[in-house]
Amino acid sequence: MNAPAKTDEFAVQNPAQGGVKIPDGVYAETVISVEHYTDRLFRFRMTRPDAFRFRSGEFAMIGLMVGEKPVYRAYSIASPAWDEELEFFSIKVPDGPLTSHLQAIKPGDTVLMRKKPTGTLVLDALTPGKRLYMFSTGTGIAPFASLIRDPETYEKFDEVILTHTCRDVAELKYGFDLVHEINNHEFLHEIVGTKLKHYPTVTREDFTYRGRITDLMESGKLFTDLGVPPLNPETDRGMICGSAAMLKDTKALLEKAGLNEGANNKPSEFVIERAFVG
Ligand code: A2P
Repeated sequence: MNAPAKTDEFAVQNPAQGGVKIPDGVYAETVISVEHYTDRLFRFRMTRPDAFRFRSGEFAMIGLMVGEKPVYRAYSIASPAWDEELEFFSIKVPDGPLTSHLQAIKPGDTVLMRKKPTGTLVLDALTPGKRLYMFSTGTGIAPFASLIRDPETYEKFDEVILTHTCRDVAELKYGFDLVHEINNHEFLHEIVGTKLKHYPTVTREDFTYRGRITDLMESGKLFTDLGVPPLNPETDRGMICGSAAMLKDTKALLEKAGLNEGANNKPSEFVIERAFVG
């Protein structure tokens, strides 16, 4: 190999991957646990480097050695900034360059992580408000898994509404597990109290709440079900994470309600994570 890119410089011998050398300048972390939810979804936890700092809601580049080459993809960090471990929630794509391998990881395996986290789904990118909506579909719940476990979210907002839309009920389980964990957590349950509202919906089978979140917003059913007034730019803030089409449609509805898109360098009323879509 000649003139390798920075992260392709092979420097460290990694016994956990059969002696394959891992790239220089990236973290090589150890998988602690893996939980498979469906044939499309799983979560895993791994060690966190002491020097690795991030803001809840940000993403990092996660990778594996595939043969002699590292393959990376952007992954929202699903654990909160205070957690000693790192958690990720992943889709399994049968032919995916990374996820076809990542879905086979086991405790003790090595996962690579680039050193710099980034992202727009952070509390600092929003102006102060009363009610924070987190709109997610599928694995788009991951950055919110981080934020709903961060005390700062509840210092800044009186009410936090997590919407999660999936094709079927089995795909909602991660969200239910998170809420259960919070309610049983030694200090989080007191901080969160009754501020967190979980609104799970499915589109392809029967369930208490049915339909795309965009349709439920347009019809007003979301607000009626939650017992809250319609979206108001004075009080409401939003964060969106999902497929490209979902981002576009949800953004249009927030703008129609008078909310403006913000960014790290220009906080405003809602933010979108575009890192995962083409
Ligand atoms: P639907 O079943 O009607 O396509 P996926 O698994 O394909 O990523 O989809 C996750 C969820 O996001 C599904 O419930 C899907 O609904 C929903 N969804 C797909 N496109 C949009 C969109 N443009 N706006 C809102 N929800 C969407």
